[in-house]
Amino acid sequence: MFVRRQVLLAAGAVAAAAAAVPACAQEEAVKIGLIVPMTGGQASTGRQIDNAIKLYMQQKGDTVAGKKIEIILRDDAAVPDNTKRLAQELIVNEKVNIIAGFGVTPAALAAAPLATQAKVPEIVMAAGTSIITERSPYVVRTSFTLPQSSTIIGDWAAKNGIKKVATLTSDYAPGNDALASFKEHFVAGGGEIVEEVKVPLANPDFAPFLQRMKDSKPDAMFVFVPAGQGGNFMKQYAERGLDKSGIRVIGPGDVMDDDLLNNMGDAALGAVTAHLYSAAHPSQINKEFVAAYKKAFNNRPGFMAVGGYDGIHLIYEALKKTGGDATGDKLIAAMKGMKWESPRGPISIDPETRDIVQNIYIRKVEKVDGELYNVEFATFEAVKDPGKTKK
Ligand code: PHB
Repeated sequence: MFVRRQVLLAAGAVAAAAAAVPACAQEEAVKIGLIVPMTGGQASTGRQIDNAIKLYMQQKGDTVAGKKIEIILRDDAAVPDNTKRLAQELIVNEKVNIIAGFGVTPAALAAAPLATQAKVPEIVMAAGTSIITERSPYVVRTSFTLPQSSTIIGDWAAKNGIKKVATLTSDYAPGNDALASFKEHFVAGGGEIVEEVKVPLANPDFAPFLQRMKDSKPDAMFVFVPAGQGGNFMKQYAERGLDKSGIRVIGPGDVMDDDLLNNMGDAALGAVTAHLYSAAHPSQINKEFVAAYKKAFNNRPGFMAVGGYDGIHLIYEALKKTGGDATGDKLIAAMKGMKWESPRGPISIDPETRDIVQNIYIRKVEKVDGELYNVEFATFEAVKDPGKTKK
């Protein structure tokens, strides 16, 4: 009872704070509360997003439509209770106009009711479970959904001589989305799942699971681990000799994040994944993005960096359209249907679902000038989230 009352009081404070902000108080600056994991197992996601936003603001300036853009960074360590508390503080005390970031699905979901109550846009720059955009009419996503890539790699595997697959997925919502989408498409194409394991999200030890994978003698293993875990996964995959047994890695591209790929060693060579972004994407705009990011941060951008870069671009462009008016409903209306050329390729915001529509590329890890890259070899254009179109 006591806990419930506290929650209700807090919810009331969020709604009241939003209602109490006079229009003139918002005139000097547009405040963006950026909530990302900067510590813990998901820290690489927070670092990539924070870097990409800094880069964008260096390139475009920190004023748009006459408003100064102020980023207030908060580290939630990917713990959803933290996300909720931080979102509440940012909305009530800092009077932010927008909340953004969200390195994992539970964090994005925890903030959604607050976005609805306060009528504050929640720009999801990282998390990838299909359902997130349905949890609040104020959620807009610039990252991806797992079904976008997992359906495509499922079809590709079935059509390319892979008959038996063992799956290894992180045991939480995006892993379950990835697994269900892959399975549906791979099995429909005639493939067989010979082993299925789910690994804990926090500090996973892959070794015991990898032995089971090896014993099931699949042609390939389908892997989903969130950004940041691919390096450790591939290390244990090589240590257990799975590369030598000819069990190839396939999956959505999270496991082959450009942020970590170049340190994975030759065991990663030949891995085929479907994803939204490769640092090797051969467009002019991407070449410039990669060069500027490398110069500023001494590392390659990965797909999380692109989610952040596009997320801040979306905010800038929406503010241009509203003439600097940061009212939640006006910003959301301006964001719906927006289209632009991202470093990942052409993208848009689906006006019905507020989710991202983007190309999905099939890529293979190859050595280019002595470095490992995901080299794109097939493109599926303007892919909507299959997790939603099905409903
Ligand atoms: C998620 O928690 O939604 C998530 C995180 C990292 C990824 C993909 C999905 O790489």
